[in-house]
Amino acid sequence: ERSLLGLKGMSKQEIEAILERASYWANYPVKVTGQLAGKFVANMFFENSTRTRFSFELAEKRLGAEVLNFSAAVSSVQKGESIYDTVRTLESMGIDAGIIRLKPVGVLQELAQKIRIPLINAGDGNNEHPTQALLDIYTMRQHFGEIQGLTVSIIGDIQHSRVARSNLWGLRTMGAEVQFCAPPQMMAQDLEGQIRYVSIEEALRADVVMLLRLQLERHETGMIKSAEEYREQYGLTAERAKLLKPHAIIMHPAPVNRNVEIDDEVVEHEQSRIFTQIANGVPIRMAVIERAVG
Ligand code: CP
Repeated sequence: ERSLLGLKGMSKQEIEAILERASYWANYPVKVTGQLAGKFVANMFFENSTRTRFSFELAEKRLGAEVLNFSAAVSSVQKGESIYDTVRTLESMGIDAGIIRLKPVGVLQELAQKIRIPLINAGDGNNEHPTQALLDIYTMRQHFGEIQGLTVSIIGDIQHSRVARSNLWGLRTMGAEVQFCAPPQMMAQDLEGQIRYVSIEEALRADVVMLLRLQLERHETGMIKSAEEYREQYGLTAERAKLLKPHAIIMHPAPVNRNVEIDDEVVEHEQSRIFTQIANGVPIRMAVIERAVG
């Protein structure tokens, strides 16, 4: 039984084992198996989600697990109950694993030390989103065959991005070169000296061009002048998409701000893998849940 809190420190062998198992599930001939029959998995989302929550639920149901959905908005969290007491309550009731998304950074590490069931990080603040990076790495491997030697540009709101951090750790372990591109106020202070920042022109020459969502809900006022200006300086516009290498792919974790970080017509461009990423989220999460409770 194993938790998945982040990709920082995870070995190449462990990442490869998850990718291999995801590939097994992606090609599995039937939709539902009895693999996790009798296991109870709770999806505990203290922050909103569409893709991560539903693909975890699909993954759990495909494995034949019993699924419990906890949503903070309609729970006793509204009466002031803490995250620890909430998770401890569900653990006491007998769940076998918890999928958890949280706003504050650092709380998940503390929880994992106090809770005995495996916890899977579905995104904690701007720290990590390991299953997103695993599905991103899986998508890259599907297109290029291997990760070793790839150059990956991650463009946008790095400071607020758990996706950027998990991809940085996972991709580096797998032998890719990761470079960031961001306006100065969106560069990650905690990663200073650990990462190369490049211009938008250089970022577009990579094998993988990954855009990040402008996380307006996490911004202090005045962080950007306007969405139009951001698009002009850092957006993957239809014009900029013409500069991509023919073999390059476009990625974005979604949800997408159309016509801000990526133009409407580029979202489903022939080089875009945005909806492929979403599809790959299900087998990746099947592999991760199975690893935790299988
Ligand atoms: N990519 C991602 O985490 O999307 P959601 O916030 O909708 O889960």
